[in-house]
Amino acid sequence: MASITIRQLDESLKQQLRLRAASHGRSMEDEVRTILRAAAAGTTEATPARAAPRRNERAAAESPAPISKPMVPVGHKRILLIIGGGIAAYKSLDLIRRLRERHMAVRCILTAAAQEFITPLAAGALAGERAFTDLFDAASELDVGHIRLARDADAIVVAPATADLMAKMAGGHANDLASAVLLATNRPIVIAPAMNPAMWANGATQRNLAQLMHDGVMTIGPNAGEMAEAGEAGVGRMAEPLEIAAATEALFGDQGERPLADKRIVVTSGPTHEPIDPVRYIANRSSGRQGHAIAVAAAAAGARVVLVSGPVNIPDPPGVRIVKVESARAMFEAVESALPADCAVFAAAVADWRVATPGREKIKKQKGKAPLPLALVENPDILATIAHRKTKRPPLVIGFAAETENVIANAKAKLERKGCDWIVANNVSPETGIMGGETNSVHLVTAEGVETWPSQSKDEVARALVARIAGALTGDQA
Ligand code: C5P
Repeated sequence: MASITIRQLDESLKQQLRLRAASHGRSMEDEVRTILRAAAAGTTEATPARAAPRRNERAAAESPAPISKPMVPVGHKRILLIIGGGIAAYKSLDLIRRLRERHMAVRCILTAAAQEFITPLAAGALAGERAFTDLFDAASELDVGHIRLARDADAIVVAPATADLMAKMAGGHANDLASAVLLATNRPIVIAPAMNPAMWANGATQRNLAQLMHDGVMTIGPNAGEMAEAGEAGVGRMAEPLEIAAATEALFGDQGERPLADKRIVVTSGPTHEPIDPVRYIANRSSGRQGHAIAVAAAAAGARVVLVSGPVNIPDPPGVRIVKVESARAMFEAVESALPADCAVFAAAVADWRVATPGREKIKKQKGKAPLPLALVENPDILATIAHRKTKRPPLVIGFAAETENVIANAKAKLERKGCDWIVANNVSPETGIMGGETNSVHLVTAEGVETWPSQSKDEVARALVARIAGALTGDQA
């Protein structure tokens, strides 16, 4: 009887066999045994050789035979990781490990562009299951198919989410496996955008992002920092694998811990800067810590959060959509376009006035002459305008009142004047150390009365406020 060994096969056959075995999670010897068994039985396992395989079939191999699916241990969540085509794709390989470390089973889809950066073989090897690449791959259509890929997951993570993939998702395209699965799924979707800062800032990407947020897609990042392109920096770096893994894990918190699931919350935070000339501005003191903490707590409670932030020196919180603005008018526009929402929390220290006509050039000191007076005009009152809206008024509108005296009396008057539902009032006189500090002691002023909360960290104030918001929105008052 003739004896053949894998070593004797020619290189190209060996390579095909290696890829095919890897894609099925078998050793090469087992793969050969399976092919021979199928051939002897007259089934279709032994596929007739085709001319050069198409690129996206390189790893999938052309087997229409059932694909052995690894068992997902009981209690493990199943993540479908869609890897888009960007340099950040290399971080997605690490993400697979981070997800698996957290007891999540991972199955990967690579877009055609992703395969220019990483191979299905690498993704499949780390996931412990073949990676999928092709919408018209007979093997996957017969076995799992794109609809089953869409449904066989507890959540879908898109990382990196390129500008193109986001555009396809926003437009409902389905011309490749990744977009078809994203259109077919009814599972939660988290995207981790990654692209050049100019592409991220482009109006088209921001419109697509707004549409995706509206459709219930959650985002993580992008972060600010260095780009792969030499000398480029800005917002566009993919969130780190650990951040994405944590955000994914947070999706599966027990429902009791996610009382704001499916709720939309808009939060303003930080100061606004109102230009005097190109180098000077008017601003209020605000670190943005309290507003950012509220955004984080709301996201942790399952809400879809839009954080409209003035200029701050603290990191972007993960898991929320951040719209960065400078002036009160820009903040107002950003809040308007984030509506409708179930709740709006106005924690920003908005400048009450702006300079009527900011200098186009830096205003020069004139030796011996008094400075020119600055003519000021009033800024829009974002809180009062939104609270008095006849349409699209969020059912719960919350303002902040930073006072230095008569805190409660002023807060009660403000509740009335601004037309909001609650005011979170605090004493920010310099001796309290609250401004820019770690702790806060607040009073919650509502139509029902005044509650004085103990002095606690800004994170704790945020969590307590979010718990109250959840109680009010779900009718489940604690
Ligand atoms: O009037 P005062 O600045 O004290 O009110 C504070 C509350 O009003 C905060 O919630 C703040 O975010 C909001 N506000 C606003 N737009 C302004 C001024 C204040 O949203 N122009």
